[in-house]
Amino acid sequence: MSPEKTPKYLEESLGSEVKELISTLPKQNGWLASHIYQYQGFWHAASHLQALISCQNHFQARDSDVFLITTPKSGTTWLKALIFALMNRKQNPISSPTHPLLTNNPHDLVPFLEIHLYADNQKPDIASLPSPRLFATHMPYVSLPESVKNGSRCKLVYLCRNPKDTFVSLWHFTNKLRTPEMGANDIREVFNRFCDGVSLFGPFWDHVLAYWEVSRERPGCALFLKYEEIKARPGVHLRQLAEFLDCPFSAEEEESGMVERILKLCSFDHLRGLGVNKNGKLSSGEENNAFFRRGEVGDWNNYLTAEMAERIDRIGREKFHGSGLELL
Ligand code: A3P
Repeated sequence: MSPEKTPKYLEESLGSEVKELISTLPKQNGWLASHIYQYQGFWHAASHLQALISCQNHFQARDSDVFLITTPKSGTTWLKALIFALMNRKQNPISSPTHPLLTNNPHDLVPFLEIHLYADNQKPDIASLPSPRLFATHMPYVSLPESVKNGSRCKLVYLCRNPKDTFVSLWHFTNKLRTPEMGANDIREVFNRFCDGVSLFGPFWDHVLAYWEVSRERPGCALFLKYEEIKARPGVHLRQLAEFLDCPFSAEEEESGMVERILKLCSFDHLRGLGVNKNGKLSSGEENNAFFRRGEVGDWNNYLTAEMAERIDRIGREKFHGSGLELL
């Protein structure tokens, strides 16, 4: 793919089968592309949908695979950095001046199945990748390839974020990717769409709830994390991740300050300040700096009215009722 490519989330390079399928699906206005389509209960840009279907048809999971799963703007970039650093710390010592995270955006180190690997009708040679393979996806649980859900003992790490901050972050991000001619999305209009579940990989609440339930039913298979909790106690959750991924910190590592060094390497301020993240661009077209905005909890207070916040909280209370999950 050309590095000049701008993110289009477009429909023009679709194969005929997907075009035919799309013509039968419910359709709504998109936040970036003109339309998004509802497939298996969730909304997708046409290009992502084509890749998702290709992935469903071809992807074969291995027991050692790790999938990092989020809804957009839940802190994916951070989690990619943390898990990459954690799992590769033997080959890539954290304090090395040539650590890959110093010269690569985390999205280039942990590719998305539907945005990178299977995009543009590609058939990636994932079978030749060494184990353990690390993949990311925004796919809802229902749409994961069958071998991920049932055929293997692979691990899922799910990260979610409170929907008010997720929405505000998504609003900013999509505005940044829109062309000057398109202008910014009206916040009230896209807020209504978000609340109605019509957002990329939405409904947000259904996405989160499905993974929450899997993590409760099969705790050895899925770890459920919250952005706010990692922010509050990063060391606790990094150690939890290391245990879950079968690479716990040794006593020597604890003593050498390994946990703190990984957290520092992956911190918002450090990653945002790197040349690659100030100036670089992803193969999928987004500028790397678009993934680093404020990185705070509660920024929604600056954008949502009390009434909007109450509406979004009410949806959460209703959707999560009886599940034991709360995201405020
Ligand atoms: P804000 O827009 O609220 O600042 P994603 O990575 O899923 O696209 O999510 C992006 C959000 O995570 C943005 O939130 C971004 O600033 C924040 N983020 C990116 N890197 C981070 C890091 N290292 N630590 C904490 N937050 C980070």
